[in-house]
Amino acid sequence: MSRLGTESAFEVLVRARELEARGKEIIHLEIGEPDFPTPSNIVEAAVRALHEGLTHYGPSAGLPQLRQAVAEYTAQYLGAPVDPSEVVITPGGKPIMFFVILALVEHGDEVLYPNPGFPIYESMINFVGGHAVPYGLHEDRDFDVDVEEIIDKITDRTRLLIVNTPQNPTGGVMSGDGLKALAAKLAGREIPVLSDEIYHRLIYEGEHSSLARFPSLREWTIILNGFSKTYAMTGWRMGWGVMRPDLARQVAQLMTNSNSCTASFAQMAGVEALRGDQGSVERMREEFRRRRRVIVEGLNRIPGFGCRQPHGAFYAFPNIKQTKWSSGALADALLNEAGVASLSGTAFGEWGEGYLRFSFANSVENIQKALERIGDWAKKRL
Ligand SMILES: Cc1ncc(COP(=O)(O)O)c(C=O)c1O
Repeated sequence: MSRLGTESAFEVLVRARELEARGKEIIHLEIGEPDFPTPSNIVEAAVRALHEGLTHYGPSAGLPQLRQAVAEYTAQYLGAPVDPSEVVITPGGKPIMFFVILALVEHGDEVLYPNPGFPIYESMINFVGGHAVPYGLHEDRDFDVDVEEIIDKITDRTRLLIVNTPQNPTGGVMSGDGLKALAAKLAGREIPVLSDEIYHRLIYEGEHSSLARFPSLREWTIILNGFSKTYAMTGWRMGWGVMRPDLARQVAQLMTNSNSCTASFAQMAGVEALRGDQGSVERMREEFRRRRRVIVEGLNRIPGFGCRQPHGAFYAFPNIKQTKWSSGALADALLNEAGVASLSGTAFGEWGEGYLRFSFANSVENIQKALERIGDWAKKRL
């Protein structure tokens, strides 16, 4: 257990709630979840399924209807056929990370992962006894990956490569050229790639692409995706993986050994989410785009803060090096003294030092209020 890490967004949320219980008003820019309600067509589908009696165990790999819907949905964005036997439904996308790392990584195996990056990658690699090998995401590259750096770090012990686009916490998006170059260099190496595409619909410039689109990598890529961010369904715990059928069977067996299955009525809502009207997804993205402008412009007006425009997801990741504060101390001070909850860049790995992460999954009004508070705090304390 001493090797297992955590996701500090949840811990900061607890600290923020404690401050609120003591009467302090906090603006929450720490947690990464859409503040919109789940679209009503999806809620109605779940209610219908409940009335129809979908309240029992289902197959560990997921209901056939949802596996089929996910296969069709994925085939559409990959531009290549996907068979339902490649799909496993899990309670959120996170278990795909957990199960795939558990299934593939042996003691001493090396796993390449982005740093700064989603903290559970490093946590799980360490937990199973793997050797976590970070690759950097650099501000001067707009937080896109450096293909050469990844390739240079591959050894004969490399068992898995993790990529995440659009990226948490930087908002970086892997460019089409970058993906092509990476695919070309990975071809023939037989290294599985866990491609975390949970923010795939939240792109503000250009279009999402996946390493799985490249025929040479198709069978080596494990796609992690889900409903949480796209359909504002974080609390439903609904996600999926798309992978080779032999690995899908093993992941399903891990489901049998842990959760048994994902909630049956929730899966029927998932079918509606994927096949029903997509208007709400577009509306949410346009609102995020509006908020992105407000937060990036606002942060850039605060002395010591410099923020690039994120191209995807809903996070601003300003550089705070000029404040001369460490990221952890600054995040703490903003929470305790300014009443604004954010995350230290180091919550995403040690190479996140010098940055903070602000989620803009909050109203424009709250974002403006937070910016005013940070600005006032900076005048007094910087
Ligand atoms: C990069 C990334 N991957 C996966 C997840 C997991 O999402 P969920 O388990 O809610 O589907 C998150 C959630 O914050 C994330 O940021």
